[in-house]
Amino acid sequence: MKIAIIGAGAMGCLYGAKLSAVPTNEVYLLDVWKEHVSAINENGLMMEENGASVPYNKVKAATEAVQVGVCDLAIVFVKSTLTGTAVKTNKAVFGSHTVALTLQNGLGNIDLIRAEIGSDNVIAGTTAHGATMLGPGRMRHAGSGKTVIGELNGEQSPRIETMAAVLREAGLETDISHNVLGLIWDKLIINVGINALTGITRLKNGALPEYPELMEILAAAVSEAVAVAGAKGIALSYDNPVEHTKDVCLATAANKSSMLQDILNHKQTEIDMINGAVVREGTLAGIATPVNKVLTDLIRFIQKTA
Ligand code: PAF
Repeated sequence: MKIAIIGAGAMGCLYGAKLSAVPTNEVYLLDVWKEHVSAINENGLMMEENGASVPYNKVKAATEAVQVGVCDLAIVFVKSTLTGTAVKTNKAVFGSHTVALTLQNGLGNIDLIRAEIGSDNVIAGTTAHGATMLGPGRMRHAGSGKTVIGELNGEQSPRIETMAAVLREAGLETDISHNVLGLIWDKLIINVGINALTGITRLKNGALPEYPELMEILAAAVSEAVAVAGAKGIALSYDNPVEHTKDVCLATAANKSSMLQDILNHKQTEIDMINGAVVREGTLAGIATPVNKVLTDLIRFIQKTA
């Protein structure tokens, strides 16, 4: 299968490298970071995994989609702030049969991709893998987890089975979900509880539960998001999303959340696709979301002034 990965950050590189190791796959990483693209093409992609450094020499990288051409599958892995632009800029990989898969965090990615390539060819999912960028052409696979993908209408279609088989063949443990929107909201709710609070306080995930006053804010933000999901008819998987989010804080105790990392690196955060998305969806559904509004505004302020 000919596969493009749009966004060669740590997660894009992880999926690209694994997929490229299957002899029948032809995999291209697309990214605007020229130094990274050159390093991959000259020396292969180096992945640190289980204490060893493994070279992936078959994966190719490019800055321009025209160098790659139409693919069978395009996995979108850019930060959700860049989804619309990245898909538009890389239109040359999309043909009439190309399936676009988003495994990104946050809300809104599906609609942004659909707006560029049409609604029929988009599938979505979540990933529980963790990865970190180490430098041009170098990244670390920090933790393994499941990939779950699904058709937006919940169907068990032949193409979703094919895509799951392609991921499994690459050693990426993959399930098919009939409620992929619920899964995206499950993950969104965790990010709603953890990301902005860690960004504002600069605490690691595991430190949040040590402060009852922060846990009150976490619980309020999560509860607002759960109410919005309920009003939209989204079925969540967890009986107690507040407790679940607290469990994720403890399970990822040593992590600096992606939002805290963005703030520390003076990068644009995904706030508008996380807490900001809850505020937008809440307004549409007639649900008040004051805590998510305050968290969104504080992160926007930090972004402006940091
Ligand atoms: O965005 C993140 O950092 C992660 O989704 C999570 C689960 C909060 C762990 O750090």
